[in-house]
Amino acid sequence: METTLVLVKPDGVQRGLVGTILARLERKGLQLVGLKLARPPRALLEAHYAVHQGKGFYESLLAFMGSGPVVAVAVRGAGAIAVVRGLMGPTNGAEAPPATLRGDFGLSRSFNLVHGSDGPGTAAAELALWFPEGLVEWEWNALRWVYDLE
Ligand code: RTP
Ligand code: MG
Repeated sequence: METTLVLVKPDGVQRGLVGTILARLERKGLQLVGLKLARPPRALLEAHYAVHQGKGFYESLLAFMGSGPVVAVAVRGAGAIAVVRGLMGPTNGAEAPPATLRGDFGLSRSFNLVHGSDGPGTAAAELALWFPEGLVEWEWNALRWVYDLE
C-alpha cells in the first residue's frame, strides 16, 4: 500500500470544498491516516515547494498557499499516489476533465484547490514535512470490501 499527501489549498477551504474533497477520497476507497487544518508557516511552504524555487510563479504560489488555512490529508491505498493525481486532474482547472476535482470545481491554473504528491520520493518527504508527529495507524475494516483479498 502507498501513502500520499493531499492538501486542500486555501481556495478549497475558503470555498467550502473541504468536505466534498474528503468525500471524494473516501468514496474512492482510500484510507485516511492523517488529517489536520493548519496555517502553514513560510518555512514549511518553502520546503514543500522547493522544486519550484526560482520559477516565475514561485513567490505568488507561496503567498497563495500562506493566505489562509489548508487541510493536510494523508491517504493510503494501492497505487494511491497515481490514484489521487487522477482524482485531482491536470494542474489547470480550465483544462481538467469533468469528474476530476479540478475539472469539476475550478477554472484556474494557480488556484487549483488541491495538491497531491507526484511520486514515492516526494510523498515520503511531504508526509514527513506535514505530519512530523507521524500518521494514525488503524485497522481499516472496509479494506476487505474495497480490495479482493482472495
Ligand atoms: P501540485 O504540486 O500543487 O499538486 O500541482 P501540480 O503538480 O499539478 O502542479 P505543479 O507544476 O507542481 O505546480 C505547483 C503549483 O503551483 C501553481 N502553479 N502556478 N501560474 C502558473 O504558471 C503556475 N504553475 C503552477 C499551482 O497551484 C500548481 O498546483
Ligand atoms: Mg506538483
